[in-house]
Amino acid sequence: MQLKLLTIENQDPTFNSIRITNHSRGFPMRLLGFMLLFLAIVISFSIINMFKIRYLGSQNLVEGAHTLIRSCFQGQNSLQDWIEPPSTYMHTLDDNELLWRASFVPQIKEYPFKRSPKIAFMFLTRGPLPFAPLWEKFFKGNEEFYTIYVHSMPSYRSNFSTSSVFYQKQIRSQVVEWGMMSMCDAERRLLANALLDISNEWFVLLSEACIPLQNFKIIYRYISRSRFSFMGAFDEPGPYGRGRYDARMLPEVTIGQWRKGSQWFEANRKLAVDIIKDVKYYPKFERFCRNLCYVDEHYFPTMLTIQSPYSLANRTLTYVDWSKGGAHPARFGKGDITSEFFRKLHQDHTCVYNNQPTSLCFLFARKFAPDTLDLLLQNSTQFFGY
Ligand SMILES: *[C@@H]1O[C@H](CO)[C@@H](O)[C@H](O)[C@H]1NC(C)=O
Ligand SMILES: *[C@@H]1O[C@H](CO)[C@@H](O)[C@H](O)[C@H]1NC(C)=O
Ligand SMILES: *[C@@H]1O[C@H](CO)[C@@H](O)[C@H](O)[C@H]1NC(C)=O
Repeated sequence: MQLKLLTIENQDPTFNSIRITNHSRGFPMRLLGFMLLFLAIVISFSIINMFKIRYLGSQNLVEGAHTLIRSCFQGQNSLQDWIEPPSTYMHTLDDNELLWRASFVPQIKEYPFKRSPKIAFMFLTRGPLPFAPLWEKFFKGNEEFYTIYVHSMPSYRSNFSTSSVFYQKQIRSQVVEWGMMSMCDAERRLLANALLDISNEWFVLLSEACIPLQNFKIIYRYISRSRFSFMGAFDEPGPYGRGRYDARMLPEVTIGQWRKGSQWFEANRKLAVDIIKDVKYYPKFERFCRNLCYVDEHYFPTMLTIQSPYSLANRTLTYVDWSKGGAHPARFGKGDITSEFFRKLHQDHTCVYNNQPTSLCFLFARKFAPDTLDLLLQNSTQFFGY
């Protein structure tokens, strides 16, 4: 056998030369190099240890060895190791791995440590964040109470300075198509990444055209004290509501359970986990809510209405103006930015908050043209109180 193999090898000149390089020259030299390096490490380690024994006593040596072992193997030895969020957003998990990991839920409700619950602000964008300077102003001074996640097109590279709150807040992303399941996938990807940080308790989805309408303290109080999550969910008769339902979704989804709602939601941690762990409704919506169905307006509202109707406020926190008709809401330009505009936005609405009527219905608004930034920044104290 051995001989036969050798003969074949020798007949093949390429094989032969490779064999020679690997075997006779490269391999032993490299091996020798490694062995010498290893020997050097062992010797220096022994010298350090001898030094330690002599001057620090053997007790410290044992502790030193423990520290070394811990840092080598990155073991989960203290509570801190379990509750620390990942050090970088650029992990190597693919979507399946990420959703699985994010679905871990503690079974004991009380946290055995001091936890300051945070709001995760999740930005679903194409590329740049034109209102970043306004958001920076809004976030300033509230570092303990928020986290930020940005999902942009995979080809887009952001360029935030190290002092920006958006610095290195991009998560691993995939291409998103308007109205398609890839949109819900991106939202689930944002939720899953945010769930990896155990301090995140509320999850808000925003777009690059969104701005905050109140200061941080008011928004935090409004969301944290609400008994319901702000997911728009209503039963709309007619072609753009029930008309998009497909009976092939039975038996998982009936026409009576079919809901529509704005894509821009706020969800608590429990509902966020429900959304990312779903395998029951996902395939139905993926197959039977395509194209003119606009799955991002139906999947989460319908699924959560079936599973947790009493957790939903059934309204969104993000103001949009649909009064001009069409598939896209109105876009506000420079001419719209007046104190009257924002005063009306608050006074002309009433809604229910924790079963009480209120006129504070919207905490965010869209869509604003990028060139409104300067006006908004200059007058943000007057308009929004930040
Ligand atoms: C990134 O930002 C820096 C300073 O803010 C600027 O000098 C540089 O040109 C920017 N790079 C790109 C690719 O936009
Ligand atoms: C939201 O709607 C569901 C039914 O779709 C209902 O059971 C629930 O009570 C509503 N939530 C509120 C706060 O009214
Ligand atoms: C916004 O601020 C600028 C500069 O302070 C001021 O000139 C302008 O009148 C303000 N606009 C509104 C709508 O209040």
